Amino acid sequence: MKKLIGLTSIVIGLFALTACGGGGNSTGSDSSKAPEASNQLEQIKEAGVLKVGTSADFAPFEFHAMVNGKDTIVGADIDMVNALAKELGIPKVDFSDMEFNAVLAALEQGQVDIAVSGISATEERKKSIDFTMNYFLPEQKVIVHKDNLAKYKEISDLSGKKVGAQKGSIQESIVKDQLPESQIVSVPKVPSLVLELKQGSIDALVAESAVAESYVGQNDDIAIADVALETSEDEAYAIALPKGSTELQAALNEALQKLIDDGTIAEFVQKNTDLANENASK
Ligand code: ARG
Repeated sequence: MKKLIGLTSIVIGLFALTACGGGGNSTGSDSSKAPEASNQLEQIKEAGVLKVGTSADFAPFEFHAMVNGKDTIVGADIDMVNALAKELGIPKVDFSDMEFNAVLAALEQGQVDIAVSGISATEERKKSIDFTMNYFLPEQKVIVHKDNLAKYKEISDLSGKKVGAQKGSIQESIVKDQLPESQIVSVPKVPSLVLELKQGSIDALVAESAVAESYVGQNDDIAIADVALETSEDEAYAIALPKGSTELQAALNEALQKLIDDGTIAEFVQKNTDLANENASK
């Protein structure tokens, strides 16, 4: 009889563990305690909101636009995150807008769950954060004032010139490595860089293809120069996650793969390039 009771309680114990959704942290001894979420994805689902860090100064991926008379953060990355959250069953997405220079720190300090900001998944960054699969491969471009287009044809033409890059971005190292004879000017926001170029306080700036095309489309006095810069796989965009968020990473990758395969990401980029242009001409 004693043996039988013992067996029954083991079975109940097992059942209780399974009912907790296999919560790895549960000891099964205190059934009144809510099961602790065993991973980041579960925690986000429980909270019902995905907190996303972004730097909305980067059309067509994340930027401010007037939507129905209201200043709104829009872009291909924003559309992508909303689609991913829907696929993962997370009801709400909360975007925090900050300078690009602060985005990865906010992620590492746990202020946001993920960071989505046209972030290049470089080997250097992979030392302290995790990434999903890549979703966009950009090319590095040099933008100059239209009046100077004929003047800047190759890297040597930029020697001694002021070349702008966004603070904290890989464009800073691209200027330093590929344009070593130029003088780097680091500026926190991309639209301010564009403004400096228009006003002539810098001679050129380095930006990534879709972004360069978007700002050139919005400003008819600047253009993409012929100067050829090297591009590497290391520069592809991915979603940044805190180190060790394995479940979240797997779930995002699965959903992301679908959006890449069916052309949704490419569609988001095109749609938001048009939106940025329309918004600029208003
Ligand atoms: N891809 C570059 C990097 O990761 C630039 C990203 C800038 N993003 C932005 N939203 N301003 O360094």
